[in-house]
Amino acid sequence: MAVRRPVLAGNWKMHKDPEEARAFISAFAEQYAARDDRSVILFPPALSLAAAREAASSRGDLKFGVQNIHFEARGAYTGEISAGMAAAAGADYVLVGHSERRHLFGETVSGTIKKVEAALGAGLSPVLCVGETLEDRRDGRAESVVREQLDPVLEAVADDAADRLLVAYEPVWAIGTGETASPSDAEAMHRFVRSRLVARFREGAAARIPILYGGSVKPENVEELLARPEVDGALVGGASLEPESFYRICSVAS
Ligand code: PGA
Repeated sequence: MAVRRPVLAGNWKMHKDPEEARAFISAFAEQYAARDDRSVILFPPALSLAAAREAASSRGDLKFGVQNIHFEARGAYTGEISAGMAAAAGADYVLVGHSERRHLFGETVSGTIKKVEAALGAGLSPVLCVGETLEDRRDGRAESVVREQLDPVLEAVADDAADRLLVAYEPVWAIGTGETASPSDAEAMHRFVRSRLVARFREGAAARIPILYGGSVKPENVEELLARPEVDGALVGGASLEPESFYRICSVAS
């Protein structure tokens, strides 16, 4: 088996109340049978996490995460949830630094460092999302922007926590736009991300960290993206909202 099992993840963003989450899981679980050659993770809105997990109670292969956490463990932070609360509610993963958090909610690199630390401290696996804007890419700054988002966070991850980290490369210009990075552009950036992981961690540990691609992934393009050796999975937004389409994505040959 490859060093890294493919990871197919669905980020529902602000979609699906508890009832809708339940309906999705029932329909998806009917089609998708457990497979040990890949991981499937869903990121429902935090309020729908319990319902989604309950609907998947007989399906230990389906994992869940939350889309965001606050880095403090508790306190007067109206509207926020902590990593510990997410873990207690059944999350195993958390998205950190999604471009919508960075661009719409002002999340900074120092915020992502604290969130990754909080996630690891609470036993969650952080999925660190990085990616450049179209302007960055046009100006030839794609790699330096990704490096600025990545390196300081990697510094904050202890060596023995490397195995719990995942990275998602999501070019901002490809998210929700129908534009996808070409498989070769995606692979080039994944290679660059891998080189940063190797610079920070021991080679073996760096080689085990999955690097997911995100940005308008759909059943029609997932196969060619995953065929690239450095593309270890997909973080899917829009196309994860329908059971049939997410099933087709999760069934891609690896
Ligand atoms: P998209 O979203 O698949 O709808 O482009 C991906 C993401 O934002 O994680």
